[in-house]
Amino acid sequence: MEWLAPAKINLALHVTGQRADGYHLLDMLVVFACDGDRIIVSPADHDSFTVSGRFAAAVPTDERNLVIRARDALRAQAPGTATPVAIHLEKNLPIAAGIGGGSSDAAATMLALNAYWQLGLSFDTLLAIGLTLGADLPMCLHGAARGTPVLARGIGEDLSHVDALPALSMLLVNDGTPLATPDVFRTLNKRDNPALEPPRLDSTDALFRYLANTRNDLLPAALTIAPHIADVLALLRDIGADHAQMSGSGATCFALFRDPQAARQAAEKLAAQKPDWFIAATMTIASDKR
Ligand code: C5P
Repeated sequence: MEWLAPAKINLALHVTGQRADGYHLLDMLVVFACDGDRIIVSPADHDSFTVSGRFAAAVPTDERNLVIRARDALRAQAPGTATPVAIHLEKNLPIAAGIGGGSSDAAATMLALNAYWQLGLSFDTLLAIGLTLGADLPMCLHGAARGTPVLARGIGEDLSHVDALPALSMLLVNDGTPLATPDVFRTLNKRDNPALEPPRLDSTDALFRYLANTRNDLLPAALTIAPHIADVLALLRDIGADHAQMSGSGATCFALFRDPQAARQAAEKLAAQKPDWFIAATMTIASDKR
């Protein structure tokens, strides 16, 4: 059984406050790409976890990996019926990169094992288990299950659908710098920024106007650790992006293009200039209601 763990992209991320336990309150407009990592589960005599793909070498294969924690959390729901399983991860996305990665892999693992072990857990139960594994898990569960855009609030657990968001031509670009999410949050010094207004979109122009008034409040913090992210964003604007921003806690940046052809050309140009970078031309998944 195979499951896509799509790249998660925060089109906007506003930090609106902080909880007593230190977690930050966020308003995020989140979309999912048609591409990402892949999780494959198959019968086995004993549990195993293997990894292939461009970024396999950097992936831990023990309990540090959220895939293993997701497997164990689901098995705990039905220890009698959860037989040994071989899990394979095709790691196509850079790690510690702000585009879901480990959380999306764990989400896909939960969905795959719920089906494989025939656990019959409701989506709400999966969301609750997911939240114990990480704040990004609920939105990544939504991404791996449906993939439509969501507005995520709280620390990421309060999800609502976004209507009228079209599929977008997007470049994902990462220059190879890993950024640990806790380090970026620790560096953040302004936590009471204005909330994100939900988008009301009736055209592509309206979307770009809306995005021009949004922010990624983690960008200033990420820039103090990795100042060259500013150069990546400048380069994306130079090659014709209609909108460019960093996703999540970085360092992956995304560029949106009105014209899919322009996106492909920009990807080729950038790949020629920066052969070592991760550069992926993709599409995001549209809202159901458009
Ligand atoms: O929940 P997760 O383990 O993915 O979060 C990693 C770290 O990122 C947390 O320990 C916390 O320092 C920070 N974080 C935060 N506010 C959030 C999400 C994560 O401060 N909403």
